[in-house]
Amino acid sequence: MSQKFLVTSALPYVNGVKHLGNVIGSLLPADIYARWRRMQGHDVLAVCGTDEHGTPCELAALEEGLPVEEYAAKYHAIQKRIYEQLGLSFDHFGRTSSPQNRAITQHLFLRLWERGYVTERAIKQLYCADCQRFLPDRYVQGTCPFCGFARALGDQCESCTKLLDPTDLRDPRCAVCQRSNLQVRESKHLFLNLPKATPLVERWIATRTHWPKVTLAIAHKWLSEGLRERCITRDLRWGVPVPLDGYRDKVFYVWFDAPIGYIGISMEWADARGTPDAWQHYWKDPATRLVQFIGKDNVPFHAVTWPAVIMAADDGFVLCDMLKAFEWLNYEGGKFSTSQGRGVFSDQAVELFPADYWRYYLCVVAPEKGDSDFTWAGFQAAVNSDLANVLGNFVHRTLTFVNKAWGGVVPEAIGAGEAEAAIRKTLADAVRAVDAAMEECSFQRAVRAQRDAWAAANAYLQAKQPWHQVKTDKAAAGTTLSTCVHLSRAFAVLGSPFIPFAARQLFANLALPGAPEAEPWAKIEDWACLTGHRVSPDPRPLFTKIEDPQIAALQARFAGQERRE
Ligand code: MF3
Ligand code: ZN
Repeated sequence: MSQKFLVTSALPYVNGVKHLGNVIGSLLPADIYARWRRMQGHDVLAVCGTDEHGTPCELAALEEGLPVEEYAAKYHAIQKRIYEQLGLSFDHFGRTSSPQNRAITQHLFLRLWERGYVTERAIKQLYCADCQRFLPDRYVQGTCPFCGFARALGDQCESCTKLLDPTDLRDPRCAVCQRSNLQVRESKHLFLNLPKATPLVERWIATRTHWPKVTLAIAHKWLSEGLRERCITRDLRWGVPVPLDGYRDKVFYVWFDAPIGYIGISMEWADARGTPDAWQHYWKDPATRLVQFIGKDNVPFHAVTWPAVIMAADDGFVLCDMLKAFEWLNYEGGKFSTSQGRGVFSDQAVELFPADYWRYYLCVVAPEKGDSDFTWAGFQAAVNSDLANVLGNFVHRTLTFVNKAWGGVVPEAIGAGEAEAAIRKTLADAVRAVDAAMEECSFQRAVRAQRDAWAAANAYLQAKQPWHQVKTDKAAAGTTLSTCVHLSRAFAVLGSPFIPFAARQLFANLALPGAPEAEPWAKIEDWACLTGHRVSPDPRPLFTKIEDPQIAALQARFAGQERRE
């Protein structure tokens, strides 16, 4: 039965270009999941977009010498293009700074205000007398009171990771002018009354027993430590303006409007296709399954704060059905680092190799059970062994031989025997395993099941030796080849959510009209649909092996120290 799915990836911050850890940490899994559900025939809306407000973005714009609006537009476009190159199939890649998000954020805020979930409080904040402005979050730098790190930021110390308030810092200075002509001034701010919303969240979390363990553990830890009121306003101009007298010169804190951005981006999507209400078809239907992919650090916001907002606003929005959190991908045993140019960034990745090489390898090393490691050796092995040697070779040998011995016309499988029964069962098991893994959002398992099936197919072809069979028993050779052609088609369809570009090339090699992603998932196992069909006389290789010297050069190039251009 067709079901409605809303699929979201954490919205990447607009500042700069994201690295491969960010790609596997939410973007790619959301895409694969959405593709899989679409192929199953479900009604899917998949959204993502850039998270554009907040002080990191403002400071990055300052550093690049651009007005923040221009900076955000520039990097939104850059990121959007890279994700298209990676084959990410979001129905809409929008922006949290859109008019739609502004409207829905203000609307939800006013509901919270009317329903008594917002409180007013005066707080002390740092003010730069030279710049004549308040300095929220990262606008203040100074020495960390916990570890003594000299370049700690106003919201968090990068060295000891402790969360900070700007007023905690020792020797604070203004991040804009670098001077220390600071004052402490009092001003009124709005706070989200999370203690009041706690019973709602607790009752709801108790029903999320199907969530992955990591997600639940973090949610429970937050709840058991007790929720505190959270300031949701800032003295900034870049952001969603607060629609309340007395606060009209302030904007919302970035973490207030960012998750609402999932809805705002769905509204952008609806407007862009000329059906402005279409987003409600998903967001306001209690039967919709909202499936969200995020990095581990985002769990508290998605499991606790945002659901608290949605429930407290009580405006009929669906809550998260599945929250899948990823841990960290390291780079060759260390951390990815933007400032030190360590690791591979998404813009470089798409220039270096076809998107599917990254998509496949990132699934192989998906940090699902703890942190995992990107290594060039692992990348090379995944591409050369799994993709090129196993899948690529299997398809190539099959099609070359169909061309050579049958003039390109797929023979019939007559008298399919034990070996055929076994390989058919292998495929059936693989389809079931991929479905089961995807149901649990387990991407490593989903690609492993496919790789095992490719290997079994290769072993079948190798054992049967149709190039010898054909000399004595052409019908038996035909059965082998027919089986291998149908397996190739099945691998294209089954692999399509994961390696969509190779899957399409495989369809082109089979000279099949249409695209593998348009094939029904339920028809992956079909052992006759191509009998009598003429395949391409000139099948193109699906993958190219990566040579050792190339890997050595890449290792050296991405090792860090050099600042990236
Ligand atoms: N930009 C945030 C990050 O990269 C994620 C925002 S997710 C959203 O950590 F829900 F807030 F949109
Ligand atoms: Zn200043």
